[in-house]
Amino acid sequence: MKSDRMKVVQLNVCSEEEVAEAVKCVRKHLQETETSKGAHISEHSTFHEQAEFTMLSTETGKGAHVSEHSTFHEQAEFTMLSTETGKGAHVSEHTTFHEQAEFTMLSTETGLWALVNNAGVSTFGEVEFTSLETYKQVADVNLWGTIRVTKAFLPLIRRAKGRVVNIASMFGRMSNSSRSPYCVSKYGVEAFSDCLRYEMHRWGVKVSIIEPGNFIAATGILTRDIVMETADKLWKEAPQIVQEDYGRAHFDRHVSVLKSYCNSGLRDVAIVIKDITDAVMSCYPYTRYNPTDAYWWIRLQIMTHLPAAIADRLYIY
Ligand SMILES: NC(=O)c1ccc[n+]([C@@H]2O[C@H](COP(=O)([O-])OP(=O)(O)OC[C@H]3O[C@@H](n4cnc5c(N)ncnc54)[C@H](OP(=O)(O)O)[C@@H]3O)[C@@H](O)[C@H]2O)c1
Repeated sequence: MKSDRMKVVQLNVCSEEEVAEAVKCVRKHLQETETSKGAHISEHSTFHEQAEFTMLSTETGKGAHVSEHSTFHEQAEFTMLSTETGKGAHVSEHTTFHEQAEFTMLSTETGLWALVNNAGVSTFGEVEFTSLETYKQVADVNLWGTIRVTKAFLPLIRRAKGRVVNIASMFGRMSNSSRSPYCVSKYGVEAFSDCLRYEMHRWGVKVSIIEPGNFIAATGILTRDIVMETADKLWKEAPQIVQEDYGRAHFDRHVSVLKSYCNSGLRDVAIVIKDITDAVMSCYPYTRYNPTDAYWWIRLQIMTHLPAAIADRLYIY
């Protein structure tokens, strides 16, 4: 994310130890920023006057780095920390926070403006082929990772009356066969984000959910190699009764469909980045963003608004 007003920190974190290290690192960085600026944050300061805080977004790109450091208007300064949003993506646009933005610092500790939880993994496989271990592995990154990182940074974000932006998926609101571990984890992200939004309202913290459609071809989340590797594992680990009942032909057909799915979807993640940027920087961010193409947008509306019997008939059976 490029901005002349904020500092973006990209951290590849998920486990408890990594998150604890990340919090330490960000706190230290915030203190240094504060010291170097000699800033004094008083209660009820306005953005223009004394504001100095940090925006943290949790990126999943390799190699954490801090880039660009600049002022928000004359004195205000903040940093953003995020957890990735698409390879090599660039954000050029930035909206103004607006002159009248006003916030209250609860203590003299420097706050953090935003956290973007982006890290995610995916897999496929019908329920009877999927081990409990797989459900746990996917949830550990997509759901527990999001919760762990968010909880760790919330005290800092509350101090800035900042933002939490969680990357869920269209599969956080509608399901698809053969994607149950992913759907379970993303539905969890949606539920967590909604609860957090209700609770954070009184603190002035805004929580947004990004629900990207199909960008498989643009990212590395599900490649043909991953599909082939996973397919081998699924078949080998499936109980004999499942192998016999489903049959190898059915399984192979299924894998072929998944392989072709790897080349589908939008190839440019710019609209996702644009929505994340809006969630972080707009004065009035949306609760949900749906960067997607027309097909998946219409499908999402139908799946979530029409009676399930009709939606299933249209898209599933
Ligand atoms: N692509 C789509 O069609 C699509 C659609 C809807 C939602 N999404 C969501 O968008 C987000 C980004 O995914 P993507 O499509 O950009 O996939 P991606 O290219 O595979 O990126 C996923 C990122 O997550 C990081 N990650 C995975 N496991 C991690 C762990 N244990 N700890 C820390 N970081 C970890 C990866 O880091 P490493 O590179 O170091 O492994 C990678 O940078 C995910 O939350 C995904 O669910 C994607």
